[in-house]
Amino acid sequence: MAKTVRRVCILTGGGDAPGLNPVIRAFVKQGEALGLEIFGAEDGFAGLVENRIRRLTSTEVRGILPRGGSILGCSNRADPFQWVVGTPDGPRTEDRSAQVVERLRELAIDVLALVGGDGTMALGLRFAELGVPVVGVPKTIDNDLDTTDFTFGLDTAVGNATWAIDNLHTTAEAHDRVMILELMGRHAGWISLCAGIAGGADVILVPEIPYDIERVAAKIRARSEAGTPFSIVVVGEGAFPQGGEISTVERKLGRAPRLGGAGERLHALLADRVDHDIRVTVLGHLQRGGTPSAFDRLLGTRFGVRAAQLCAEGRTGRLVVLRGTTLRSVPLAEACANPKLVPADGELATAARAVGIELGA
Ligand code: F6P
Repeated sequence: MAKTVRRVCILTGGGDAPGLNPVIRAFVKQGEALGLEIFGAEDGFAGLVENRIRRLTSTEVRGILPRGGSILGCSNRADPFQWVVGTPDGPRTEDRSAQVVERLRELAIDVLALVGGDGTMALGLRFAELGVPVVGVPKTIDNDLDTTDFTFGLDTAVGNATWAIDNLHTTAEAHDRVMILELMGRHAGWISLCAGIAGGADVILVPEIPYDIERVAAKIRARSEAGTPFSIVVVGEGAFPQGGEISTVERKLGRAPRLGGAGERLHALLADRVDHDIRVTVLGHLQRGGTPSAFDRLLGTRFGVRAAQLCAEGRTGRLVVLRGTTLRSVPLAEACANPKLVPADGELATAARAVGIELGA
């Protein structure tokens, strides 16, 4: 007979995404209603390794629905299997996973609920192999998990990026400039494509479509010749020119390379090809910060409720997902199988081209 689930521990792994607090709140409220005792690990997997695990009740989650960030804190570098420790000879990694499993056993945690992206779910799978029952909730502003149609956070990020494009429009027009806006998304162009279309950008460059710089320049010149001497160019941080490579700013032990520089590189490539003044804005973490949109609060709440239900039912090894307008769950192993990238000739890219946006190829 399946073991009765009494105690669960939730953590928010990876970078934060608007909607995490709605997930935590819903998970706690629904969990309590189902008779669960809820714990929260601080700063993602770091809390498990460093024994920073606290009790969560509905009192503690009151009022957090409109708050960005995560009341538990996040970490996108805490990996218990490759825990980075400082030594006189520089940093090295140690496997602390057994310590985590032991700590969860001591606390009598029956299920670990992980809210995170592909990296967090990959760690979840490894803990599942060590016998820890896991339930997953997908999270990323990048929207690059192919098992779910949407992750919370994307909508807020796209809203923030669209606001930025609207603002760039007026100053671009006043000065007859080319405004380059670099957006997040890592290897996926969802934020750039969605915000670029919503904001009426003239050029959108995404990682999935390596761009031909001559096409970009030609689009800007054509607009000028047609009497519109300014242009808005949105570039995903993972976008790169044909024959080129993704641009990174930092590589550190145990961490994914940090992307950056795509906007400045584009500036350099365009400088000799168009007559305009060019300015680059890197929107950065303004996309991720701030209050979650209504859509992200709603999706976060739905995910949190369903995750608590899966825990209570003992249906572990599963990831909550959104398919169309319906919540479902899929085996956790499917979560990281394939990244969800923008199809180069998909409906969204086709719509962009149809309204005259240059995608660079
Ligand atoms: O994966 C989410 C994300 O915001 C990416 O779009 C971006 O490249 C990365 O995280 C930034 O990470 P950090 O917060 O560590 O700079």
